[in-house]
Amino acid sequence: MNYKEELKKQVSFLLKEIPYENIIVENPKNRNMGDLALPCFSYAKILHKNPNVIAEEIKEKLPNSYEKIEVVNGYVNVFLNKKEFTEEILTEIKEQQENYGNNIVGTGKNIVVEYSSPNIAKPFGVGHLRSTVIGEALKNICKKNGYTVYSINYLGDYGTQFGKLIYAYKEWGNSEEFQKSPIDELKRVYVKFHQEAENNPSLEEEGRRWFKRLEENDEEATNLWKIFRDESLKEFDKTYQLLGIDSFDSYDGESYYKDKMDLVLEELEQKNLLEISDGATIVRLGENVLPALVKRSDGASLYITRDLAAILDRKKRFHFDEALYVVGNEQTLHFEQMKLVLDKMGYDFSKNIHHISFGMVLQNGKKMSTRHGRSVKLQDVLEEAIALAKQYIEDKNPSLENKEEVSKKIGVGAVIFNDLKNYRTNDIEFSLEDMLKFEGETGPYVAYTYARISSLLRMHTLTDFSYNTIDVNEFVWNIVFKLYEFKEVIIRAKENYDPSELAKYLLDLCSCFNRFYANEKIVDNDIEKTNFRLTVSYCVATVLKEGMRLLGIALPDRM
Ligand code: ARG
Repeated sequence: MNYKEELKKQVSFLLKEIPYENIIVENPKNRNMGDLALPCFSYAKILHKNPNVIAEEIKEKLPNSYEKIEVVNGYVNVFLNKKEFTEEILTEIKEQQENYGNNIVGTGKNIVVEYSSPNIAKPFGVGHLRSTVIGEALKNICKKNGYTVYSINYLGDYGTQFGKLIYAYKEWGNSEEFQKSPIDELKRVYVKFHQEAENNPSLEEEGRRWFKRLEENDEEATNLWKIFRDESLKEFDKTYQLLGIDSFDSYDGESYYKDKMDLVLEELEQKNLLEISDGATIVRLGENVLPALVKRSDGASLYITRDLAAILDRKKRFHFDEALYVVGNEQTLHFEQMKLVLDKMGYDFSKNIHHISFGMVLQNGKKMSTRHGRSVKLQDVLEEAIALAKQYIEDKNPSLENKEEVSKKIGVGAVIFNDLKNYRTNDIEFSLEDMLKFEGETGPYVAYTYARISSLLRMHTLTDFSYNTIDVNEFVWNIVFKLYEFKEVIIRAKENYDPSELAKYLLDLCSCFNRFYANEKIVDNDIEKTNFRLTVSYCVATVLKEGMRLLGIALPDRM
């Protein structure tokens, strides 16, 4: 049962003059004040009565199924019937297990989530980590809300830089090195290209020529580009595997749209939106936004033109109700321009396109880079996290089975959780040492709480989680109410495109459980009460596991 909705309906029945959507039910900050709170201030004007009087009247007329109702300073504070409520939530979780919290908000609606989108021939860096983990979590959260979700990895596999790369590889590439470590070798020759080009500007011209050949499907250029792409994907796959990401529904990246841009340009032309400025083709977007550059003066196609082709294609293929782009803050202008161009083209679905932006990854307050100023490879960082987790396990629990597997889950989970617990537009600080702490707001803290409960449950034969006593004290009540809130959190995380709501919720649930654990003996001689407390613990574990799964984190049963 949705208690908030229920209370709203009851109040709306009593106050016919107040529109339903104006009836607000809040969660009181201090739970001693009640479980649900109804502020009456905004009704005063319409009803010509003072809020306290209105609150008193509501209190008198509400059904007597509540444990207690109080009026305090213009609020009606409602205390739920704890036993009934507890029984209901625990039963729901036991019956539904990992499906607890599923809802139908998005049933019948399609969402396209584009995320990760690394650039081929470049290392998968920590910058793309954020897009990958935020996108993966949003995908799972949308599914949990009933949406049909299509995940797209829009690979950065096209653009003028590939002309330079082809030239550079032909000129300086070493195929043995390439076999060994393709991306490193490509990076080496690409850097060399730019060094050489400083003294020899004609190289830029060579790059352009090779890009032109690629655009014209020249065999040699295309073959090299294909090899670069295949090898890059193989490397990326290793990273995805470590992160526990199965696959995307589509890997159609920028190159997929190389022959689909002319259609967009034609349509823009037909709709009279193109202008020539300094030889380049642009779309003007009004006073406050820079015009979108859709074709360069040398005729080469551009990033935004490919994005326009891609979104029109996605609309046709997936009939989306919403399209999300999980891409860093620095591309805000790009997506703003893209949506404005679509507006001008008359596509009102542009309002259903959302740039899910995020901040940078920092180390000691600065953009993260290696000692030599290069960007940090995600693969290296993840392996370091796993090694640190392993060290911890060797110290604390050397006889543990599957140490490798457990360290992997804990190490990678720590990195993902550290990212997702922050509101996405904030920059995040990347300190392996901090994120691997077993206390505080970390992934290992959640994993540890889960493992603690798992071990409790292993020691007992209670398998069907039935109980005859419902002993709701303060600690249990806090847990149960948190468990109930999971359903609201799932909905809010989607509405705000914000996995941190869920991550923070899971931390709170752990704290509620650990307070219970510290203050009470879960297992004692009273079998009935023990069974009840184990059931509560089981329900916490179930929600923790499902919540972490939604964030893209697997939890080990032992650690
Ligand atoms: N590959 C791009 C980059 O790494 C991100 C792609 C963003 N998505 C898009 N549809 N433009 O910067």
